[in-house]
Amino acid sequence: MTSDASPHAGHEAGDGLLSSAAYARDDESSDDHFYVAPRKVVHIDDGAIAALGRLYSEVLPTGGRLLDLMSSWRSHLPESFHARDVVGLGLNAEEMSDNPRLTHHSVHDLNRDPRLPFGNEEFDGAMCAVSIQYVTHPLLVLREVRRVLRPGAPFVVSFSNRCFPTKAVAVWLGTTDSQHLTLVRTYFEAAGGWIDTTAEDRSPDDGGDPLYAVWAHASSG
Ligand SMILES: C[S@@+](CC[C@H](N)C(=O)[O-])C[C@H]1O[C@@H](n2cnc3c(N)ncnc32)[C@H](O)[C@@H]1O
Repeated sequence: MTSDASPHAGHEAGDGLLSSAAYARDDESSDDHFYVAPRKVVHIDDGAIAALGRLYSEVLPTGGRLLDLMSSWRSHLPESFHARDVVGLGLNAEEMSDNPRLTHHSVHDLNRDPRLPFGNEEFDGAMCAVSIQYVTHPLLVLREVRRVLRPGAPFVVSFSNRCFPTKAVAVWLGTTDSQHLTLVRTYFEAAGGWIDTTAEDRSPDDGGDPLYAVWAHASSG
């Protein structure tokens, strides 16, 4: 695996895990154009949202500072879940301003610049819901999330079976749901700095949207 920290070099040459073609998208225009209009919708149904909330209650620490990566107008934390701070990072300020769980938000294009605008070890946990399929530099982003988390802190990546296809990376569109679990697990493992990686099908048995998740904890040191 390469250790090139430059997103542009990574994009041209691949990231050592997959070729650059794997991260190509039909719509290569700037992401902020695509997300300029607020979409105040949820991208998974109530059953999948409840399943995600249960997973968050199991895995995320209470009372801490959480990072909601690729955030919009809902963070899917259960109402009873107490967090001291929830910081959103996404592309649409209006969506994030309307998110009742966010205490702060930052507009930042991860595909243009995978570096996170936060200091080292600022967060007690992080989540990225139904959005990892849009990330073109996943290993760089995983390393950045690792950098901003305290040792031992969890990062939960979840996804379902829908996406905006023109903005999803080619490897996502060409693989199945169960292969997505393997792919996201491989992102964590190839990025390094993560322990106890778990990949599970957390779909509710209500016949509605499936819910898959991969999570791991920041290693110490
Ligand atoms: C399908 S929505 C999911 C939003 C939210 N996480 C949820 O669960 O409803 C995808 C989100 O990813 C964000 N996003 C897409 N591309 C991004 C990028 N390049 N950098 C940062 N955020 C991005 C958008 O702002 C959008 O809100």
